[in-house]
Amino acid sequence: MTSASDAIAAVTAALAQLPPAESIPEEERFKLLGAMDKVRVAMEPPVLTVRNFCFAHYGIVGIRVAISMGIFDALAAGGGSPQTLSQLSEKTKGDEKLLVRILRLLGANNLLTETADGAYQPMPLAMGFASGSPLPEAIKHFYANMKASVNLNEFFESTGYKNPDDAYNTAFQFAYKTKEHHFEWLKSHPEDLHAFNVVMGLNRQIEGAQWFDFYPVEEKLHVESNDRVRLIDVGGGLGHDIARLRERFPTLPGRLIVEDLPDVVKDIKTPLGENVEAIGYDMFTEQPVKGAKSYYLRTVLHDWPDKQALKVLERIREAMADDSILLINENTLPEKDAPEFSIALDILMMEMYGSLERTEKEWIDLLEQAKFKVVKVWRSESQGVGSNALYEAVPV
Ligand SMILES: C[S@@+](CC[C@H](N)C(=O)[O-])C[C@H]1O[C@@H](n2cnc3c(N)ncnc32)[C@H](O)[C@@H]1O
Repeated sequence: MTSASDAIAAVTAALAQLPPAESIPEEERFKLLGAMDKVRVAMEPPVLTVRNFCFAHYGIVGIRVAISMGIFDALAAGGGSPQTLSQLSEKTKGDEKLLVRILRLLGANNLLTETADGAYQPMPLAMGFASGSPLPEAIKHFYANMKASVNLNEFFESTGYKNPDDAYNTAFQFAYKTKEHHFEWLKSHPEDLHAFNVVMGLNRQIEGAQWFDFYPVEEKLHVESNDRVRLIDVGGGLGHDIARLRERFPTLPGRLIVEDLPDVVKDIKTPLGENVEAIGYDMFTEQPVKGAKSYYLRTVLHDWPDKQALKVLERIREAMADDSILLINENTLPEKDAPEFSIALDILMMEMYGSLERTEKEWIDLLEQAKFKVVKVWRSESQGVGSNALYEAVPV
C-alpha cells in the first residue's frame, strides 16, 4: 500500500511532466480530470464536501456582479496588464469598498491575481468576460435561471412534490411571478433573449462531433433540384447549426432554412451562407414549408413535455412528403450512470420548462406516439457532453 506522502510525490511528479494542456487531446484531458476528481471524492472529509455544496454558487454570483459593475471591461481596457484599485475604480460602477470585495471573490475563483504591489492582474479567462464575448452572456443566462433553482423547493411545496409536466406551471413561473412560458417571457426581456440565443451557439464548442460528421448527409438527404428544400432546422435559434452545415458542404444542392420565433430570427446578425434562408415561425402552427427533404430539430423538443412535443411533431408530419425524413438531434440520458452535466440539464429542463432530458427509450416512445417510425439512432464515436444522438425517423 502507498502512503499518502508517496502518492502526493508521485502525482506531483507526474503533473510536472505533463505537456501544456492545449496540446493534450480533449478526451484525454477529461479522463485526467475524471481521475483527479475520483481522488478528490475519496479524500475529501464530509465537512469539506458539505461546505463545497453550500458555497458553490459564489463563483457565478461574483462574475455576474462583476459583469454589471464593468470590472471585466475595465480589466480588458488595461490590455491584460495589472491595474491598481483606483485605476479600476475610475472605470467601474459602484463604490470602491464593494469593488475590493468583488475583486477578491474573482481572485478566489482564479480569474485574477494580486501582484506584490497590490495591483490586479487578470488571468486570460477574465478577458473572456469582457463585453462582446459570448461568456458574459452565458453567465447572465444561467444566473437568471438560478432564480428558478433557488425557488424549486418552495415551488414543490406548493404542488405537493408532483413531478412537473406542465410547461406553464414550473419553478420559472413561480419564481418570476409570471404566467408566461419562458419563451414568451423572453420576448419582453431582450437582454435575456439575446443571452439565451448566444448560449445556444456556445454549446457547440464543447460537443465534439457534429451530427453531419457521422450522418451521411449527401446520400440520405439527396435532392434532385436546387429549388427543393434539403433541410429545415426547426427552432434553429440564430442559425449556428445550419451555417455550419453550409460551411461543411458549401456546394450541396438544395435550399437550407432555419426557422425560429420572429424575435429570435430578428436577432440573427451574421450571414448564414449561400442559399440559406431564415423564417420567423411558431412551430405550434401550420408548417409553411411543405415537402422538404428533411425536418431537423436540435435540442428543441427537450424544452417541452410530451403534450407540446407531440403537437410540434404533428405540425411537421402534416407538412412532410412521402420521402421526407425527420431528424431529431437530442441529448439522450443513459439508463444508468448518466454524466453529472446531463443530470443537471434534466433538472434545468424541469425547473424552467416542466420538461425533461429523455432516455433513448423515451425518445423512441415519443416518436412512436407521434406516428413516426425510428429508422436508426445515429451516434458519434466520440460522444460529446451535449447533444449525443440523432434519431432518423419517417412517418408511418
Ligand atoms: C434549446 S434552443 C435550441 C436552439 C438550436 N436548435 C440549437 O440547438 O442551438 C430551443 C429553440 O426553440 C425555439 N423555440 C421555442 N419555442 C418556439 C416556437 N413556438 N416556434 C419556433 N421556435 C421555438 C427557441 O427560440 C430556441 O431557439
